[in-house]
This record gives sequence, C-alpha cells and structure tokens, in this order.
Amino acid sequence: MSKVYLTTAIPYVNGAPHIGHALDYLLADVYARYQKSRGNEVKFQAGTDEHGNKIYKKSVELGIPVKQYVDGNAAKFREFIDKLGVYPTDFVRTTDADHERRCQEIWKKLEDHIYLSSYEGWYCEGCERFVTDKEHEENSGICPDHNKPYEKIKEENYYLRISDFKDQIADAIKSKELNIIPEFRANEVLQLLKDSPDVSISRPTSQLKWGVPVPGDDSQVMYVWIDALANYITILGYPDQDISDFWPASVQFVGKDILRFHAIIWPAMLLALGLPLPKNIVSHGFILVDGQKMSKSIGNVVDPVEVLESKGLPAFRYYFLRHADTFSDADFTWEKYNAAYDNELANDLGNLVQRLANLCKKQDLDGIKFTPVEDPAYNALMDEFYFSKAFDYVWEKVQGLNKEIDDKKPWELAKLPEKHDELVATLNDLATSLLQVAELLKPFLPNVAEAIIAIFTGAAENSNGKILPPEIPLFPKER
Ligand code: MSP
Repeated sequence: MSKVYLTTAIPYVNGAPHIGHALDYLLADVYARYQKSRGNEVKFQAGTDEHGNKIYKKSVELGIPVKQYVDGNAAKFREFIDKLGVYPTDFVRTTDADHERRCQEIWKKLEDHIYLSSYEGWYCEGCERFVTDKEHEENSGICPDHNKPYEKIKEENYYLRISDFKDQIADAIKSKELNIIPEFRANEVLQLLKDSPDVSISRPTSQLKWGVPVPGDDSQVMYVWIDALANYITILGYPDQDISDFWPASVQFVGKDILRFHAIIWPAMLLALGLPLPKNIVSHGFILVDGQKMSKSIGNVVDPVEVLESKGLPAFRYYFLRHADTFSDADFTWEKYNAAYDNELANDLGNLVQRLANLCKKQDLDGIKFTPVEDPAYNALMDEFYFSKAFDYVWEKVQGLNKEIDDKKPWELAKLPEKHDELVATLNDLATSLLQVAELLKPFLPNVAEAIIAIFTGAAENSNGKILPPEIPLFPKER
C-alpha cells in the first residue's frame, strides 16, 4: 500500500461556484477513487482562497464585512463539493489561523531568497498577477482572460529570487522529476521560465490590508499567491509537523490558467524550503459555454447547481468526465448535455441494465458470484491521467455488451426449451461482463456502479439473492 496525496486548486471566494470549478474536484475525485480501489491510502486536499484585492474589493462593493463575506462564499463551495459526490479528506481555508501562522513560518524560512525592492508596472486584479511590460504590450494593455485594462501600480514590495532556482526548475521539468502533463504545457512553462523575472511576493498595507501579515514588517501583507500556494503543505502541518508521509504530492490538479504559478513560483518556494517538488502537475482545460469563455459581462455564466439539479449527479459526472477531455477545453450547452443524458447514459447504460436484468429475472437467475479482474489497458490510461479516454474505453464495453445482446438474441433462445442451458450460460456471461464494466465505472459514476453491482450480484434490497430489475431509478435526480 502506498500513500497518495492529491491536491486541487483553491478557488477565490469572490462569488458562488460556476461549472468550471467542478473540473478540479471531479478529476481529483476520479483519481482518488481509482487509487483507493488499488489499495492505496489517499489524502485529498481541497479548500478556499480567501485573501487578495479581488475579494476585498467585492466585499466593500457589497457592503459586507470581508470576513463575513468570505465565510458565506466558502460555505457555498463546501456545499458544492459535497453535491458533486466528492469527499476531500482535508479542507483548508486560507483565513484559518493555523494556515496563516504556518505561512508566516514559511516566509521566515524563505528569507535568504527574499529582498526588498520597488515595483513599478502592471497588475491584473482578475488574475491577481503582476504583469510584465512585454505582456502588457502584447495584449495592448488589456487582460485577455478578464477583459479589463491592467492597472498601473508603483509600490515597495518584497521579492522572491526566482533566479536562484530557474535552472533547477527547468532541469526538474525536463527530466520529469516534476512531471507536467500534458507535455505541450510543460514546453510552454519552460519558455515562460526563461523570461521569468523575480516575483513580487508582498503588497504594501497602504494598498491592501486583507492578507497574511509579513512577519517583522507591519507595512506589508503577503501577495495572495504566496499564501495560497502554501496551502498544499500548511494543511499537512508544515512546518511544525513532519510531512514526509504525504509530501511530495502524487499529483496536483490545476486549470491551464494557473499552471504558471504552480510550475514556477511554487517550485521556487519548495526548493527554497528544501522540500521535494510534486511528482505530477495535471493541467486541465477550460469549460466553455456555447464555445465561449464564461464571463459575467457576456452573461453566460452557468450555475452548476442548476445543471446538477436538472438531471441529477450521475448525469453531471457523466458529462463532465466523459465529454470534457482531461487536457483540452470542452464545451457545455444544454442541448449537448441533454443529448448525452438521453442518448448515452439512459440509452446505452440504462437500457442495458434494464434489458439484461429483465431477461435474468425471467429465468429466475441467482446473483453472480463475481471477482473483478485487472484491466491493464484501463489501468494504463488511469495511471497517466487520461480519464476521459478511460471513460471512453469503458463506454465501448457498454456499447459492446448491447451489441452482444442484440447478436445473441437471448429472447429467441428463451422460446426453445432445448436451448435452456445455453440461455442461462449466455445470460450469466453477459451479467458477469456487465459487473466487470461496473467495476471500471466506479471512479466515474460511483453510485450507479454500486447499484449495478447490487442488482447483478443479487445483493439489492428484497432480491433474495436473485437478479431483479432495479426498483429505484439508476440515475436518480436527487442523490
Ligand atoms: N485562487 C486561485 C487558485 C489558487 S491555487 C493555490 C484561482 N482561483 S479560481 O477560482 O480562479 O480558479 C479555481 C480553479 O478553477 C482553477 O483550477 C481554475 O483553472 C479553474 N477554473 C476556473 N474557470 C474554469 C473554467 N471555465 N473551466 C475549467 N476550470 C476553470 O485561480
């Protein structure tokens, strides 16, 4: 048994969750369930990023005291994660007293690589990021992600000397000691790293008070990304506890927009602390809506709770895990969502289960004694984080079973008494194959897979050990 630590990006709590936020959690959850099924011990972090300008300004705009504001939104995120059927083992809020204290300890340990200087340049509040002149010029002064002009700022800051670690980070990425997936993103990072200046890691309190105070300097708070990135180890108890059981992380899941922070600043912090680098960083794509980026100004932000409630959790997990390729952008439209439910989940899988269970019931078949078998092709995809491909692979088996029933026509065999043994053997084979499919479906659709297993092993309620068609809906709207 090995210990697996996986992490998710901690969202800013300047609003309620949108459907894009679901991706980190779903991907991490699939991997967590898969690793547990392999017998490994899984630690799974999630949390909320609660400092910085963006959040502070929003609370002022709404006239709500900032702590009260972040408390309310953090609760919405926790509720949302729960609704997704995702259960992290640890949840960090960056306003937790332990987190803040540990960040200050971390800061002190970084001091050999920190210097004070002044910054005059650009900042994007949406990204909470200092922007170089080159980028400012390339984007004609407007952040392409937030569609807002960069702000000019001039202030005293502490800097982290990224230059102390550039070569080491580049070597780790090239040798895959720090494995960035997909490969083309690793190449983008290597390019960015070449031009990466030292990074400002504090903000003067004259500009921003809502942050973790820099130890020994009342006039500065930490730049929100320093405090946020530290969450991955403060939640393990660093620096007051030994974290070697779970650090380095097996995998960190992040969206493509924030890979640069995780692949440059974060490794620099870890190297400065003398800690090993995470083994894998998986950078996923974005969920678009009708082919467009979600934005409040376009007015196309989709509420994930509405999507969840329209067809239930299995439909939600099905769509975003199968139709959102792990590494590319994916599109959400209600038409596509409803079609995937009707034509695939309900038609391919739902009908298969109903059909086969009915045929078994007619023959009064006992539940199958079943032991899952290893599937090396599936494991290879899961081990490499190709989750949507692994899901496709399982779905081909679902479709293959439908075809096998159509070809073997057990209902025809049922008309011929002399074919009874052949019929029973055929149904048993089909049911065994379906149980194996359910086993592979577990990380993606855990409740559905468990229901299928209960039906065909004769463990469903009131079945007396027989295979019976499902009494409760396979894809319940309510979870
Ligand atoms: N607070 C930072 C992360 C700090 S991690 C130490 C942040 N927050 S965020 O709320 O903007 O984003 C949280 C996660 O959601 C990130 O992984 C981000 O890439 C992801 N997504 C935000 N919008 C998304 C989509 N439309 N689609 C998929 N993922 C998206 O960045």
